[in-house]
Amino acid sequence: MPVKTVEWRGGVDGFLRLVDQTRLPTELVYVDAKSIERLWHAIQRLEVRGAPAIGVAAAFGPVIAAQKPAVETRALLARVEKACNYLATSRPTAVNLFWALERMRAEARRNAGLSPAAFRKSLLAEAKALLREDVDMCRRMGRFGATFIKGGMGILTHCNAGALATAGMGTALASVFTARRQKKRIHVFSDETRPLLQGARLTMWELMRERVPCTLLCDNMAAQVMKEGRVHLVVTGADRIAANGDAANKIGTYGVAVLAKYHRIPMVIVAPSSTFDLSIASGREIPIEERGAHEVVEPFGRRTAPAGAHAYCPAFDVTPHELITAIVTERGIIRAPNAARVRAHFRP
Ligand code: MRU
Repeated sequence: MPVKTVEWRGGVDGFLRLVDQTRLPTELVYVDAKSIERLWHAIQRLEVRGAPAIGVAAAFGPVIAAQKPAVETRALLARVEKACNYLATSRPTAVNLFWALERMRAEARRNAGLSPAAFRKSLLAEAKALLREDVDMCRRMGRFGATFIKGGMGILTHCNAGALATAGMGTALASVFTARRQKKRIHVFSDETRPLLQGARLTMWELMRERVPCTLLCDNMAAQVMKEGRVHLVVTGADRIAANGDAANKIGTYGVAVLAKYHRIPMVIVAPSSTFDLSIASGREIPIEERGAHEVVEPFGRRTAPAGAHAYCPAFDVTPHELITAIVTERGIIRAPNAARVRAHFRP
Protein backbone atom coordinates (compact mmCIF):
# COMPACT_ATOMS: atom_id res chain seq x y z
CA MET A 1 0.00 0.00 0.00
CA PRO A 2 1.45 3.40 -0.95
CA VAL A 3 1.68 5.92 1.85
CA LYS A 4 -1.30 8.30 2.14
CA THR A 5 0.47 11.54 1.34
CA VAL A 6 -2.69 13.69 1.26
CA GLU A 7 -5.83 12.65 3.10
CA TRP A 8 -9.02 14.42 4.12
CA ARG A 9 -10.21 13.35 7.58
CA GLY A 10 -13.87 13.72 8.49
CA GLY A 11 -16.77 15.49 6.79
CA VAL A 12 -17.20 19.13 5.79
CA ASP A 13 -15.84 20.15 9.18
CA GLY A 14 -12.81 17.88 8.82
CA PHE A 15 -9.16 18.68 8.15
CA LEU A 16 -6.33 17.82 5.79
CA ARG A 17 -3.74 15.32 6.97
CA LEU A 18 -0.39 15.45 5.18
CA VAL A 19 2.77 13.39 5.54
CA ASP A 20 5.37 15.85 6.81
CA GLN A 21 7.98 15.22 4.15
CA THR A 22 10.55 17.44 5.83
CA ARG A 23 10.85 14.77 8.53
CA LEU A 24 11.46 11.78 6.27
CA PRO A 25 13.30 9.45 6.12
CA THR A 26 13.89 9.34 9.86
CA GLU A 27 10.28 9.84 10.98
CA LEU A 28 6.92 9.18 9.34
CA VAL A 29 4.81 11.88 10.97
CA TYR A 30 1.83 13.90 9.83
CA VAL A 31 0.79 17.54 9.88
CA ASP A 32 -2.86 18.46 10.15
CA ALA A 33 -3.83 21.53 8.14
CA LYS A 34 -6.88 23.06 9.77
CA SER A 35 -6.46 26.59 8.44
CA ILE A 36 -5.57 28.16 5.10
CA GLU A 37 -2.47 29.69 6.66
CA ARG A 38 -1.26 26.28 7.85
CA LEU A 39 -1.87 24.79 4.42
CA TRP A 40 0.03 27.64 2.73
CA HIS A 41 2.91 27.07 5.12
CA ALA A 42 2.88 23.29 4.46
CA ILE A 43 3.19 23.89 0.71
CA GLN A 44 5.80 26.64 1.03
CA ARG A 45 7.99 24.64 3.44
CA LEU A 46 7.69 21.47 1.30
CA GLU A 47 5.95 19.51 4.04
CA VAL A 48 3.75 18.56 1.10
CA ARG A 49 5.58 18.71 -2.21
CA GLY A 50 5.66 17.26 -5.72
CA ALA A 51 3.47 18.88 -8.34
CA PRO A 52 0.38 16.61 -8.21
CA ALA A 53 0.41 16.39 -4.38
CA ILE A 54 0.60 20.18 -4.11
CA GLY A 55 -2.43 20.46 -6.41
CA VAL A 56 -4.47 17.89 -4.50
CA ALA A 57 -3.61 19.45 -1.12
CA ALA A 58 -4.50 22.95 -2.36
CA ALA A 59 -7.87 21.70 -3.62
CA PHE A 60 -8.94 21.21 -0.01
CA GLY A 61 -8.06 24.83 0.81
CA PRO A 62 -11.46 26.16 -0.33
CA VAL A 63 -13.14 23.46 1.78
CA ILE A 64 -11.29 24.75 4.85
CA ALA A 65 -12.01 28.37 3.88
CA ALA A 66 -15.74 27.64 3.74
CA GLN A 67 -15.87 26.10 7.21
CA LYS A 68 -16.29 29.36 9.15
CA PRO A 69 -19.93 30.06 9.97
CA ALA A 70 -21.81 32.29 7.55
CA VAL A 71 -25.45 33.13 7.01
CA GLU A 72 -25.07 33.69 3.29
CA THR A 73 -23.28 31.62 0.64
CA ARG A 74 -22.05 34.88 -0.92
CA ALA A 75 -19.81 35.44 2.10
CA LEU A 76 -18.46 31.89 1.79
CA LEU A 77 -17.74 32.37 -1.90
CA ALA A 78 -15.76 35.53 -1.09
CA ARG A 79 -13.71 33.56 1.44
CA VAL A 80 -13.07 30.80 -1.07
CA GLU A 81 -11.90 33.31 -3.69
CA LYS A 82 -9.59 34.92 -1.16
CA ALA A 83 -8.20 31.55 -0.09
CA CYS A 84 -7.52 30.58 -3.72
CA ASN A 85 -5.65 33.83 -4.34
CA TYR A 86 -3.61 33.37 -1.18
CA LEU A 87 -2.72 29.70 -1.77
CA ALA A 88 -1.62 30.58 -5.31
CA THR A 89 1.24 32.58 -3.78
CA SER A 90 2.73 29.58 -1.96
CA ARG A 91 4.93 28.26 -4.80
CA PRO A 92 5.22 29.45 -8.40
CA THR A 93 6.41 26.60 -10.66
CA ALA A 94 4.16 23.53 -10.34
CA VAL A 95 1.16 24.39 -12.49
CA ASN A 96 -0.94 21.71 -10.76
CA LEU A 97 -1.36 24.18 -7.88
CA PHE A 98 -3.04 26.78 -10.11
CA TRP A 99 -4.95 24.14 -12.06
CA ALA A 100 -6.46 22.72 -8.85
CA LEU A 101 -7.29 26.14 -7.40
CA GLU A 102 -8.97 27.28 -10.62
CA ARG A 103 -11.02 24.09 -10.73
CA MET A 104 -12.16 24.65 -7.14
CA ARG A 105 -12.87 28.34 -7.80
CA ALA A 106 -15.03 27.42 -10.79
CA GLU A 107 -16.91 24.82 -8.73
CA ALA A 108 -17.54 27.40 -5.99
CA ARG A 109 -18.84 29.98 -8.47
CA ARG A 110 -21.08 27.39 -10.10
CA ASN A 111 -22.61 26.55 -6.71
CA ALA A 112 -22.96 30.10 -5.37
CA GLY A 113 -26.75 29.79 -5.50
CA LEU A 114 -26.84 26.86 -3.04
CA SER A 115 -27.40 27.07 0.72
CA PRO A 116 -24.20 27.40 2.82
CA ALA A 117 -24.47 23.72 3.86
CA ALA A 118 -24.93 22.47 0.28
CA PHE A 119 -22.15 24.81 -0.92
CA ARG A 120 -19.69 23.32 1.61
CA LYS A 121 -20.68 19.80 0.62
CA SER A 122 -20.18 20.52 -3.07
CA LEU A 123 -16.67 21.84 -2.44
CA LEU A 124 -15.69 18.78 -0.43
CA ALA A 125 -17.10 16.48 -3.12
CA GLU A 126 -15.09 18.28 -5.82
CA ALA A 127 -11.82 18.18 -3.85
CA LYS A 128 -12.34 14.47 -3.15
CA ALA A 129 -13.06 13.84 -6.84
CA LEU A 130 -9.82 15.61 -7.76
CA LEU A 131 -7.93 13.40 -5.30
CA ARG A 132 -9.52 10.21 -6.69
CA GLU A 133 -8.72 11.27 -10.24
CA ASP A 134 -5.08 11.79 -9.27
CA VAL A 135 -4.92 8.24 -7.85
CA ASP A 136 -6.40 6.89 -11.07
CA MET A 137 -4.09 8.96 -13.30
CA CYS A 138 -1.07 7.58 -11.41
CA ARG A 139 -2.20 4.01 -12.10
CA ARG A 140 -2.66 4.71 -15.81
CA MET A 141 0.68 6.54 -16.11
CA GLY A 142 2.35 3.62 -14.37
CA ARG A 143 1.03 1.22 -17.00
CA PHE A 144 2.14 3.37 -19.95
CA GLY A 145 5.47 4.21 -18.33
CA ALA A 146 6.27 0.56 -17.60
CA THR A 147 6.28 -0.17 -21.34
CA PHE A 148 9.64 1.63 -21.49
CA ILE A 149 11.09 -0.66 -18.84
CA LYS A 150 12.64 -3.99 -19.83
CA GLY A 151 14.04 -6.67 -17.55
CA GLY A 152 17.71 -6.13 -16.73
CA MET A 153 17.51 -2.34 -17.02
CA GLY A 154 19.24 0.20 -14.82
CA ILE A 155 16.97 3.22 -14.39
CA LEU A 156 18.07 6.62 -13.19
CA THR A 157 15.64 9.04 -11.56
CA HIS A 158 16.02 12.54 -10.16
CA CYS A 159 14.13 14.09 -7.23
CA ASN A 160 10.98 12.29 -6.06
CA ALA A 161 8.09 11.48 -8.36
CA GLY A 162 6.60 8.70 -6.25
CA ALA A 163 3.64 8.26 -3.92
CA LEU A 164 4.95 11.13 -1.80
CA ALA A 165 4.61 13.49 -4.77
CA THR A 166 1.01 12.52 -5.60
CA ALA A 167 -2.17 11.22 -3.98
CA GLY A 168 -1.58 7.83 -5.62
CA MET A 169 1.42 5.68 -6.50
CA GLY A 170 3.41 8.41 -8.23
CA THR A 171 4.29 9.37 -11.77
CA ALA A 172 7.84 8.32 -12.74
CA LEU A 173 8.01 5.86 -9.84
CA ALA A 174 4.57 4.46 -10.75
CA SER A 175 6.30 3.10 -13.88
CA VAL A 176 8.95 1.50 -11.71
CA PHE A 177 6.43 0.02 -9.26
CA THR A 178 4.31 -1.28 -12.14
CA ALA A 179 7.35 -2.84 -13.85
CA ARG A 180 8.24 -4.57 -10.57
CA ARG A 181 4.71 -5.94 -10.27
CA GLN A 182 5.19 -7.27 -13.80
CA LYS A 183 8.19 -9.15 -12.36
CA LYS A 184 10.74 -7.22 -14.41
CA ARG A 185 14.22 -7.38 -12.90
CA ILE A 186 15.36 -3.77 -12.60
CA HIS A 187 17.73 -1.61 -10.61
CA VAL A 188 17.02 2.05 -9.82
CA PHE A 189 19.67 4.71 -9.31
CA SER A 190 18.38 7.69 -7.38
CA ASP A 191 20.20 11.03 -7.59
CA GLU A 192 20.29 12.48 -4.11
CA THR A 193 18.99 15.82 -5.52
CA ARG A 194 20.67 18.72 -3.81
CA PRO A 195 19.92 20.91 -2.03
CA LEU A 196 16.88 19.39 -0.27
CA LEU A 197 17.72 15.73 -1.00
CA GLN A 198 14.31 14.58 -2.23
CA GLY A 199 16.08 11.70 -4.02
CA ALA A 200 18.03 10.54 -0.99
CA ARG A 201 15.39 11.16 1.65
CA LEU A 202 12.16 10.38 -0.21
CA THR A 203 12.80 8.31 -3.35
CA MET A 204 15.16 5.94 -1.54
CA TRP A 205 12.64 5.65 1.31
CA GLU A 206 9.86 4.72 -1.11
CA LEU A 207 11.96 2.32 -3.19
CA MET A 208 13.31 0.52 -0.14
CA ARG A 209 9.83 0.30 1.37
CA GLU A 210 8.63 -1.39 -1.83
CA ARG A 211 11.75 -3.56 -1.95
CA VAL A 212 12.88 -2.22 -5.31
CA PRO A 213 16.63 -2.82 -5.74
CA CYS A 214 18.18 0.66 -5.65
CA THR A 215 21.38 2.61 -5.23
CA LEU A 216 21.79 6.19 -4.09
CA LEU A 217 24.06 8.49 -6.11
CA CYS A 218 25.36 11.96 -5.35
CA ASP A 219 24.15 14.18 -8.19
CA ASN A 220 27.64 14.52 -9.65
CA MET A 221 27.98 10.73 -10.08
CA ALA A 222 25.32 10.28 -12.77
CA ALA A 223 27.73 10.82 -15.69
CA GLN A 224 30.15 8.21 -14.40
CA VAL A 225 27.42 5.60 -13.84
CA MET A 226 26.09 6.23 -17.35
CA LYS A 227 29.60 5.85 -18.78
CA GLU A 228 29.91 2.54 -16.95
CA GLY A 229 26.90 1.38 -19.01
CA ARG A 230 24.69 0.81 -15.96
CA VAL A 231 21.89 3.24 -16.88
CA HIS A 232 19.53 2.27 -19.72
CA LEU A 233 16.66 4.66 -19.04
CA VAL A 234 16.16 7.99 -17.28
CA VAL A 235 12.69 8.63 -15.91
CA THR A 236 11.53 11.71 -14.03
CA GLY A 237 8.39 13.66 -13.24
CA ALA A 238 7.68 17.30 -14.14
CA ASP A 239 6.25 20.42 -12.53
CA ARG A 240 5.06 22.25 -15.62
CA ILE A 241 5.15 21.25 -19.28
CA ALA A 242 4.75 23.91 -21.97
CA ALA A 243 2.72 23.49 -25.17
CA ASN A 244 5.86 22.49 -27.11
CA GLY A 245 6.87 19.76 -24.61
CA ASP A 246 9.59 21.72 -22.76
CA ALA A 247 9.40 20.41 -19.20
CA ALA A 248 10.32 22.05 -15.90
CA ASN A 249 11.38 19.68 -13.15
CA LYS A 250 13.62 19.72 -10.09
CA ILE A 251 16.91 21.55 -10.54
CA GLY A 252 19.44 19.14 -12.06
CA THR A 253 16.99 17.39 -14.40
CA TYR A 254 18.22 19.41 -17.39
CA GLY A 255 21.80 18.34 -16.68
CA VAL A 256 20.72 14.70 -16.44
CA ALA A 257 18.89 15.04 -19.79
CA VAL A 258 22.03 16.44 -21.46
CA LEU A 259 24.04 13.53 -20.06
CA ALA A 260 21.41 11.04 -21.24
CA LYS A 261 21.52 12.47 -24.76
CA TYR A 262 25.32 12.22 -24.88
CA HIS A 263 25.20 8.60 -23.70
CA ARG A 264 22.25 7.76 -26.02
CA ILE A 265 20.00 6.86 -23.09
CA PRO A 266 16.24 7.48 -23.48
CA MET A 267 14.85 10.25 -21.27
CA VAL A 268 11.20 9.76 -20.34
CA ILE A 269 9.05 12.22 -18.42
CA VAL A 270 5.93 10.97 -16.68
CA ALA A 271 3.32 13.57 -15.73
CA PRO A 272 -0.48 13.88 -15.64
CA SER A 273 -2.37 16.25 -17.92
CA SER A 274 -2.75 18.60 -14.92
CA THR A 275 1.00 19.31 -15.25
CA PHE A 276 0.61 20.73 -18.79
CA ASP A 277 0.34 24.46 -19.21
CA LEU A 278 -0.93 24.79 -22.76
CA SER A 279 -1.25 28.55 -22.34
CA ILE A 280 2.51 28.97 -22.71
CA ALA A 281 4.32 28.22 -25.96
CA SER A 282 7.67 27.17 -24.55
CA GLY A 283 9.64 26.53 -21.38
CA ARG A 284 11.08 30.06 -21.50
CA GLU A 285 7.79 31.26 -20.01
CA ILE A 286 7.83 28.90 -17.02
CA PRO A 287 8.40 30.80 -13.77
CA ILE A 288 11.31 29.23 -11.91
CA GLU A 289 11.07 29.36 -8.14
CA GLU A 290 14.14 30.73 -6.42
CA ARG A 291 14.47 29.58 -2.83
CA GLY A 292 16.53 30.97 0.02
CA ALA A 293 20.30 30.61 -0.16
CA HIS A 294 20.24 29.01 3.29
CA GLU A 295 19.03 25.79 1.62
CA VAL A 296 22.42 25.62 -0.12
CA VAL A 297 24.79 27.03 2.50
CA GLU A 298 23.06 25.72 5.60
CA PRO A 299 21.06 22.64 4.57
CA PHE A 300 19.12 20.99 7.38
CA GLY A 301 20.51 23.44 9.91
CA ARG A 302 24.18 22.65 9.36
CA ARG A 303 26.47 25.20 7.75
CA THR A 304 28.41 23.72 4.82
CA ALA A 305 29.93 26.92 3.43
CA PRO A 306 31.76 29.87 5.04
CA ALA A 307 29.54 32.32 6.88
CA GLY A 308 28.32 34.99 4.47
CA ALA A 309 28.93 32.84 1.36
CA HIS A 310 26.72 33.94 -1.51
CA ALA A 311 24.66 31.16 -3.09
CA TYR A 312 22.11 30.89 -5.88
CA CYS A 313 19.15 28.55 -5.40
CA PRO A 314 16.84 27.99 -8.39
CA ALA A 315 14.55 25.11 -7.41
CA PHE A 316 13.76 23.97 -10.98
CA ASP A 317 15.19 23.94 -14.48
CA VAL A 318 13.67 23.38 -17.90
CA THR A 319 14.57 20.46 -20.13
CA PRO A 320 14.04 21.41 -23.79
CA HIS A 321 11.75 19.02 -25.64
CA GLU A 322 14.56 18.06 -28.06
CA LEU A 323 16.20 16.17 -25.18
CA ILE A 324 13.03 14.27 -24.22
CA THR A 325 12.43 10.85 -25.79
CA ALA A 326 8.82 10.66 -24.63
CA ILE A 327 6.30 12.19 -22.26
CA VAL A 328 3.90 9.76 -20.62
CA THR A 329 0.53 11.00 -19.40
CA GLU A 330 -2.59 9.18 -18.18
CA ARG A 331 -3.82 9.37 -21.80
CA GLY A 332 -0.85 7.59 -23.35
CA ILE A 333 2.58 8.41 -24.77
CA ILE A 334 3.84 11.46 -26.67
CA ARG A 335 6.96 10.29 -28.50
CA ALA A 336 9.59 12.88 -29.53
CA PRO A 337 7.35 15.64 -28.11
CA ASN A 338 6.88 18.93 -29.94
CA ALA A 339 4.04 21.44 -30.22
CA ALA A 340 2.13 19.48 -32.89
CA ARG A 341 2.36 16.17 -31.01
CA VAL A 342 1.36 17.72 -27.69
CA ARG A 343 -1.64 19.34 -29.43
CA ALA A 344 -2.61 16.03 -31.03
CA HIS A 345 -2.32 14.23 -27.70
CA PHE A 346 -4.85 16.52 -26.05
CA ARG A 347 -7.25 16.75 -28.98
CA PRO A 348 -10.62 15.51 -27.70
O1 MRU B 1 10.47 21.06 -4.85
P1 MRU B 1 9.69 19.79 -5.01
O2 MRU B 1 10.16 18.69 -4.12
O3 MRU B 1 8.19 20.04 -4.91
O4 MRU B 1 9.96 19.33 -6.52
C1 MRU B 1 9.32 18.19 -6.99
C2 MRU B 1 9.76 17.77 -8.32
O5 MRU B 1 10.53 18.43 -8.98
C3 MRU B 1 9.13 16.53 -8.87
O6 MRU B 1 10.03 15.85 -9.69
C4 MRU B 1 7.89 16.92 -9.67
O7 MRU B 1 7.02 17.69 -8.91
C5 MRU B 1 7.16 15.75 -10.20
S1 MRU B 1 6.32 14.89 -8.94
C6 MRU B 1 5.36 13.68 -9.60
